[in-house]
Amino acid sequence: MSPDEGVQNLNKKQELIKPIIEHLSPERWQEYRDLRFRALEEEPVAFEDPVRGKQRLLKFQEGEWRGMLDGRCHDGRTRKIVLVAEVAGKLVGMSTTDIAQIIGEKKITFENLFVTKEFRGKGIGKKLMEALLNKIESDKELKNIEFELNVYGTQQSAIALYKSLGLEIVEMVKNNKQYKGQEVDRYIMKKKQI
Ligand SMILES: CC(C)(COP(=O)(O)OP(=O)(O)OC[C@H]1O[C@@H](n2cnc3c(N)ncnc32)[C@H](O)[C@@H]1OP(=O)(O)O)[C@@H](O)C(=O)NCCC(=O)NCCS
Repeated sequence: MSPDEGVQNLNKKQELIKPIIEHLSPERWQEYRDLRFRALEEEPVAFEDPVRGKQRLLKFQEGEWRGMLDGRCHDGRTRKIVLVAEVAGKLVGMSTTDIAQIIGEKKITFENLFVTKEFRGKGIGKKLMEALLNKIESDKELKNIEFELNVYGTQQSAIALYKSLGLEIVEMVKNNKQYKGQEVDRYIMKKKQI
């Protein structure tokens, strides 16, 4: 096979993957829960400390998981936007965002973005983020609220993805955590004028 044929085959393969980006029915809470655990296992450096993270997730009961998919946080006040990517009936990615009311001000806190390893590089992460930003931008209650997220310096793909969607690095917190004996920086990224 020539290099050109290889590229054509790869393109065809990518075209065949058409993820459904959707809100997940609360009935499927176990699948969402499993994906949250998988994210911690597969990408421990990207999120919170995996041991603490797993302990935190284990405390949630069925009703709380269902509530999250229904747009509610366990504190009862915060709105949640959970979007998932589904391919052939299987969840392969997710984005989770909290919209908290803090002292009369709304704050959008992006919690996580994750695509399973075998489905990366096929445009799924970008589709998830675009769907999320469209949702926020079309919500009248969220007009002019800054969209903010934290990302670790190890996650270069994520940083490139966020930049491609108009987010800018506004702050770097040097040596924010240790991972495998290395200091890892944390970046705060913002998108203005949503
Ligand atoms: C970040 C992540 C969600 C991207 O998902 P993905 O489906 O692989 O991304 P996409 O295929 O949609 O790529 C979108 C953009 O991301 C960037 N990107 C993706 N993979 C990249 C790579 N290996 N190197 C550099 N940039 C990359 C590019 O800007 C790309 O746009 P382009 O294809 O137009 O160049 C995925 O890599 C992941 O789950 N990483 C681990 C978890 C994580 O880091 N989450 C973010 C924590 S805040």
